[in-house]
Amino acid sequence: MSKSYRLAILGATGAVGTELLELLEQRNFPLADLKLLASERSAGKTLKFRGENIPVESVSDRAFDHLDIVLASAGGSTSKTWAATAVAKGAVVIDNSSAFRMHPEVPLVVPEVNPLAAVSHKGIIANPNCTTILMAVAVWPLHQVKPVKRIVAATYQSASGAGAKAMAEVKTQASAILQGQPPVAEVLPYPLAFNLFPHNSPLNDSGYCEEEMKMVNETRKIFGSQEIRITATCVRVPVLRAHSEAINLEFETPFSPDEAREILNHSPGVKLVEDWGSNHFPMPIEASGRDEVLVGRIRQDISHPCGLELWLCGDQIRKGAALNAVQIAELLVEKNLLKPTAAYAPS
Ligand SMILES: NC(=O)c1ccc[n+]([C@@H]2O[C@H](COP(=O)([O-])OP(=O)(O)OC[C@H]3O[C@@H](n4cnc5c(N)ncnc54)[C@H](OP(=O)(O)O)[C@@H]3O)[C@@H](O)[C@H]2O)c1
Repeated sequence: MSKSYRLAILGATGAVGTELLELLEQRNFPLADLKLLASERSAGKTLKFRGENIPVESVSDRAFDHLDIVLASAGGSTSKTWAATAVAKGAVVIDNSSAFRMHPEVPLVVPEVNPLAAVSHKGIIANPNCTTILMAVAVWPLHQVKPVKRIVAATYQSASGAGAKAMAEVKTQASAILQGQPPVAEVLPYPLAFNLFPHNSPLNDSGYCEEEMKMVNETRKIFGSQEIRITATCVRVPVLRAHSEAINLEFETPFSPDEAREILNHSPGVKLVEDWGSNHFPMPIEASGRDEVLVGRIRQDISHPCGLELWLCGDQIRKGAALNAVQIAELLVEKNLLKPTAAYAPS
C-alpha cells in the first residue's frame, strides 16, 4: 500500500486555504489525516472535504502534534509565530506568506523552475509571491535558452490577491455604486470597484512598494541569478480573481517571437493563448480556476533589437499560491524529501 500523510492547513478558511482544500481533493493527495486550522474566529466552523464536514480548529501548540506537512496560508505574523513549533514537532512547513522567503536557509521554490532547491530544506520551504510565481513560470523557459538581462514588468492585480475579504468588498462596492451609493473601503485602502490604484504595500525610500521589490528579489533568488536587472510597477485593478502582467524582456541577443512561442508551447505550466485574427489573448476571466499561466501577445519590442514583449494572466490563488504549495508537497512526497537536512532555527 502506498504511503499517506498527516497534513494541516493553517489559514484553512481564507482565500488560499479554501483553494488548498479543493486542490488536495482534486489531485487526490495521499492523506492519512487532515487538520484545518484558523484563528479563534473560525473555531467550530466546518469545511467540506471529500464529502465530509471537517471542523476548523483554533491554532494552538497542540494542533501541530503528529503532522508530516503544514501548508501555511495565514499571513506572515502567524507563520512567524507557529512555523518553528511545527518544525520542532517534526512537520515540514510550506509557507505561503512572505515571512521566510528571503531567509538564506529557506528554499524558495517554483516546481517548474527550481525543484532541486527543495532538497536542502531544513523544515521550511517558502512559496514565492503570487505575481513572482506567474512571471517565473513564463520567463524561466526563455531564460534557459538565452539568458535574460533585464525584466520590466507592469502588473494588473486582482482584488482576491488581498484575501477573501477584499474580494467581497469589491463586490459590495460595485453593487453600492450601481445603486448610486458611495463605495465603502474598509479592507482595501481605497475603493477598487470601477477604479484602480498602485499596489498598497508599504513603500521603501526608493519609491518602490514591497510587492514590486518581491518581484525583484524573489525572482533573482528563484532563478539563482543576482545579475538579472528587474523593475516592476504593481497596480491593483477591479478584477475579482487572476493577475495579469505586461512583461518586457531584454536578452543578450535577439529572441524572435516565433522562437519564444515554440519554447513556451512546450513549457510546463504554460498555455499559449494567441489568436491574432480575433485579437484574443489571455484574460483574467479565462485564467481563473486554471492551473496554467496563460501567455500571449508575444512580439518583438520595436524599441530594442534584443527585446521581447509578452502578456500573461494566471490564477494567483491557484498557481500563484495554493497549487504551487501542493506541487511542492507532492514533490517532497514523490522524492522522499520530507525529512529535513537539519532543523531550522529562526534567528
Ligand atoms: N490571496 C492570494 O492571492 C495570495 C497569493 C499568494 C500568497 N498569499 C498569502 O497567503 C496568505 C493567506 O492569504 P489569503 O488571501 O488566503 O488571506 P485571507 O483570505 O485573509 O485568509 C487568511 C486566513 O488566515 C487565518 N488567520 C488570520 N489570522 C490568524 C491567526 N492569528 N491565527 C490563525 N489563523 C489566522 C484566517 O482565519 P480566520 O478565518 O479565522 O480569520 C484565514 O483562514 C497570506 O500570507 C498571503 O500573503 C495570498
